[in-house]
This record gives sequence, structure tokens and C-alpha cells, in this order.
Amino acid sequence: MAMIGNAHGDDACMARMLTLTGGAARVILECPADGGAPIWRYWGRDFDDAGLIVPDRPLSDSRPLPSFTLDQASVLSVLPTFGLGWFGAPGLRAATIDGRDFAHLFRLEAVDQPHAGSMTMLLADHVADLSVRLTMALDSHGVLRTGMMLTNHGDAPLRVDWLASACLPLPPGSRWVDSYSGRHNAEFVPCRDALGRAGWSKTSRRGLTGHDCFPGAYVDTDQGVYAAQLVATGNHHQQIESTEDGGFQWQLGAWFAPGEVTLAAGDHLSTPDVIAAYSPVDANAVAAQFHAHLRDRKAALRSPRPVHLNSWEGYYFDHDEARMKALADAAADVGVERFILDDGWFHGRDDDRRALGDWWADARKYPNGLKPLADHVVSRGMEFGLWVEPEMVNTDSDLYRAHPDWVLQLAGRPMITGRNQLVLDMARDDVRDYLYQTLSSLLTALPIAYLKWDHNRDLASTGGQDGRASYQRQTRGTMALIRRLRDDFPRLEIEACAGGGGRIDAAMAELTDRFWTSDCIDALSRLRMQRGFLRFLPPHMMGSHIGASPAHTTGRRQGLDFRAAVACQGHFGLEFDLVAMPESERVKLRWWINFYKQWRHLLHTDVWTGEADDGIVWHAAGSQDEWLLFVYRIEPMTMRHQAPLRLSFVGDTGVVDIATLFPVNARLENSVPAGWLRHHGIDIPPMKAERVIIFHGKRRTL
Ligand code: DGJ
Repeated sequence: MAMIGNAHGDDACMARMLTLTGGAARVILECPADGGAPIWRYWGRDFDDAGLIVPDRPLSDSRPLPSFTLDQASVLSVLPTFGLGWFGAPGLRAATIDGRDFAHLFRLEAVDQPHAGSMTMLLADHVADLSVRLTMALDSHGVLRTGMMLTNHGDAPLRVDWLASACLPLPPGSRWVDSYSGRHNAEFVPCRDALGRAGWSKTSRRGLTGHDCFPGAYVDTDQGVYAAQLVATGNHHQQIESTEDGGFQWQLGAWFAPGEVTLAAGDHLSTPDVIAAYSPVDANAVAAQFHAHLRDRKAALRSPRPVHLNSWEGYYFDHDEARMKALADAAADVGVERFILDDGWFHGRDDDRRALGDWWADARKYPNGLKPLADHVVSRGMEFGLWVEPEMVNTDSDLYRAHPDWVLQLAGRPMITGRNQLVLDMARDDVRDYLYQTLSSLLTALPIAYLKWDHNRDLASTGGQDGRASYQRQTRGTMALIRRLRDDFPRLEIEACAGGGGRIDAAMAELTDRFWTSDCIDALSRLRMQRGFLRFLPPHMMGSHIGASPAHTTGRRQGLDFRAAVACQGHFGLEFDLVAMPESERVKLRWWINFYKQWRHLLHTDVWTGEADDGIVWHAAGSQDEWLLFVYRIEPMTMRHQAPLRLSFVGDTGVVDIATLFPVNARLENSVPAGWLRHHGIDIPPMKAERVIIFHGKRRTL
């Protein structure tokens, strides 16, 4: 690792700066003269620096000291610490187990910058005997990815209460935080909080990422939009607090239960990464950077995304070989490409009170095992998928009867159930080995292309064998098991589900192929949820199905066209009793399935979403040059005429040939200048509520 002399500006009067560039973004850090941790000078849009070192003066020793402050300036650094002059939130809260070395001061020992877009800083506190390796990279889309590794070089064990993955600067003029709350069946409820001197925070302590707590947010500032999200699953914490120059500090990291993390001598702790992005334009431009970054991280993105049929809402626990074969026939007939047998297939599983853990086919429902059904599905030209919930066990199961000690528990405390189930201790090697053997036997014996991996409860009484909190170990264990399966079954796809959207985050996005966005398939509710999802994660990972009408979770009725047009925003599927669907409706359904297949290459590239006045929600997908635009009316019109919808995503030059693709009997075609669409807008014909119109646009240069 190079010494810090490699940083720009070796002249003693000049500031020593570390600069990262990538995409349209730039980060500038200043190495303070006292050798401390680099301080934030800039994170924003890249600019032409005319070959000069910017900024030219160091802030660390040039900023005037206000009255009654300590005699040295303290400025937000990449790792602000407690007890030695910084009074804001520290990025590290730790002490030896007998309470010493609670104050920290890190010095920059070395910087390694292999190229303009990435660097590793080595920071050390020789009094507390700690070091931090802090990585920071800007990718070609402008996404900043950063994380830390803390090592305890001392002899005494170190108790760590908090280690931020990132301590990011936000400018003065940061006004609003847009985050997401919710619950089961109501994920991605948008929350807008004003940002002031009192700050903002959000924490998940459920052991899961949480239906109510996506680990990221957007911050609206008078200079544009900043956003960040953790590449982490499980408990997490975010905090934004004002700094003394009118700006803000944003910390994100894993949340630790009391006493959960202790580093023995020589041990280290790695944080999950944070990914963060900025756009002077709008939130859609930030989301596009996140999507591009996450697409790049996937070694093998299996495109195009096949049309799913999932048995859950059509059949729940009530199915058998004959009924599922009939469903598979109906599915193949309308053009389904992957058939997923959901919960209810395994030994004794007639309801949600029993059987989790006993992962072999129920002999009453599937007397010959699952092979005849799986082979039937494959013979009809579809892939076969299977639901599992590996981390869980019911007390009424052979597994629990054999291994009651395998569950997370705290001595002397009640065993708290959720959906009647307990949680296996995923930190145990024997538990993970048992699950690996069970799942790999299924994957070997059956032609399974896809696992839907569920997790239907929050964690409580989360104690490991040593009696200590085991949230972090639990998540690490699960991720290790998934990785092992992926390595050994490289063609297998996995869907992350946790009672719908309880485990949606970028870490699972890097590990799995799809999310089940919510157990609520009501199309109106989904319009809101899917917009939230797409702020952070890409559309090809967003499971979006056509459900029944009335919707099982809300009781609302919506027409098939509206439900289908909402499902088209993501990875499309069906989830209702297709066998009972009248032929007249199946004709329409086939049309939508063909529509999805024809356009999925556009649907799963860039997306833009928005709301317009008077009950309009819109969603566009594709590129600046060719796109589909879905305009949904969610409320009846209250104005006599609908204002044109401005399409800011359309390129500025050339002509766009536009055709309406839906409704099919009202096809309109015309050609307009691209600039007209961008600055004036597209005309929206009158529509009744819960209706959709779909435009196709293709730009040509003149
Ligand atoms: C919760 C999931 O979100 C549903 O889709 C379904 O798989 C059930 N669990 C099965 O128990």
C-alpha cells in the first residue's frame, strides 16, 4: 500500500487531496495536516478541474474557530470518532470489555489508489491498538461503494456497539428524507420527513431487513438528490444528523444487539458495504445508477425473465398431484414458462401450524413423490420451481422432535413463535449441513430450476448456543448456506421471499435472482409498492403477479387488463386459480402474456416512474430511444381535461414515432418531435379509473 505522500499536493502549503472519479461523479477528500482521517470536501457531480488541485486550501487548518470551541477544528471525516474533539455521531462506538479505550483517533497511514475510481485507506489508532481498512470506489455509473474493516490489534477483547459502513456528507440545503415504512401486505409505504437540526433515524431490530424498514433512503436537497442503501440484510440502522456547518452527516450500518459483537485480540469486523449515488436531475436518475450497479454485480443475469405461475393464492395448502398437473396443463396452455409449487407439498403440511422442517413430499397428496409432477411440468415445456422455508421449524415436526436444541433460544425465556414457527440456529454447522443435505437431495432428485426461499417471521429470543445475541451470525449463516447451494448448483435460481417483502435489500439482490415484492397483489397497492421497490432495485428482480379479483388481501376488484398492466412492470407471473378461469378471460390473459414476452427486453432495462396531476401514475421502461409508457389512472378525473404528460426521459432531439399498444381497439399512431414530448408532453385521452393506456415510442434522427 502506498504511503500518503502519493496523495495530490505535496507542497506543505497546499492541501493534500484524494480524488475519486467515476461515471459523472467525483469525491474529494482532504488529508488533514495533523495526519488524521481524511475529511470530506466534496461528493457530487464531476467537473473539469482544468488540471488544478481542487480545493486549493485545506479546510482542516484554515477554518476560523468560533468562540468557545476547542482549540482545533473538527470537520466531518470518513471516520469521525468519539471522545477526542468530535461531538457529532461517531462512526465507531467501542471500548475494551472493562471500559477502556472508549475514545478513538485514527491517523491515515497509507492510501492505495490503483485507479481513478477506487482507493483503500489504512487508518490506525495506535493508542487503542485498532486499525481500519476503508475502501471507497466510484463505478462507471457514478455509484459510490464503500465499507470498512476494523481490526483489534490489542490484547484485550473489544466490545463494538456500532461501526458505520459509511459516514457520508450531505450538503446544507438538504430538506427532505424519503424513506419507506409499512408492514406485511403493505410494503414500501413512502414516508417523507423534513430534515432539520434534530436529524432523522431509522432502525430495524427484527432480525430481518423488515417489511417496514428498507435499509436506504433518498435525500432531496437544493442541489439535487442523494441516495444511499446498505448492501446488507438483517438488523440495520441509519442516522442523519446536522453538522455544525449547516450540512449533515448520514451514517448507515448493521445494528448490533447489546454485547453482540466482541473482537478478540487479532479479530476483525467487516461492515456490509453501502452504495450511494447523486444526481442533480431527479430520483429516477439516481435509481438508474443503482440499477446499473446491481446489474453489473450479477455474474450471470439470466434473461429474459420467464413468465411464472405460482400455486399459492390459487390453492394455498389444498393441492395434490392431480390438481397440480391440471394447473400445469392450464399454465402451459396460456404460455407460462415456469411453474412454482408453493407451500403445502411436504410431509403433513395441511396448514401453517405444522411440518416445517420435514422437507419430503407428503405421501397423501403426492404418493409418488414430486417427481411425476415435476416431470409433467417439464414435459409441458416449463421449468419447475419449489417453495421452501429452510430457516424455520414447527414444534409439530419430526425435525423438532429430533433436534429441539437446534432452535434459537434464550435460557429461562419464553420461546416466542411467529406464524406458529421457531427459527433454526443458522450459526450451527450441524444445522447448516442438515439443510444443505436436505436441499441438495431435493435439487439432485428433481428437475428443480428455481427455489422460492421464504422466511415468515421476525426474530425474537435470538440467542445462540453461547447465550449471546445471534442476529449477525444468523444472517451470515443463511447467506453462507445460500452461497454454498449456488456454488454447487450454478444453474439454480433463487427467489428471496419473507412473507412477501420482509427481506428485500441489495445484499439479497446480489445473492438471489428475484424478490417476492409483497403478499398483497392488489394492483392499486402494487402500483405504490413497486415504485418504492424500483427506487433501489432493478425491475427484472421485482416479482409482480396478476392476482385474483377481488384481491385476497384487500377485497378490491380490478379488471384483468389493469392487473396485468401493473404486473408488466417487473418479473411477470400469475397467482390465482387458472383452471377455474373462463375461456373468455384466458383469451385476454394470453394477449398479456404475449405482450410481456414481446416487450420484456424493454421492460427490464431502464425505468422511470412518476405521478401527474389528477389521479395519474406513470411508468416508463426502455431507453431514451425506444420505450414503453404505461399511464395508469388510479382515481376518477376531477378536471374536465387531462393536462399533457411531460416525458423528461425522452432524448431531446429527433422525431419520435408513437403508437398506442393498449387498448388494442383504440390504436393511434403519430410522429412528434422528441423535444415536444420532453417539454410540452404527450396527450392523454380521457380514461375511466383503474384503466391503463400503453404507448410505444421510437426515436429516429432526421
Ligand atoms: C408467504 C409468502 O409470501 C407467500 O407467497 C407464500 O409463499 C406463503 N408464505 C406460504 O406459506
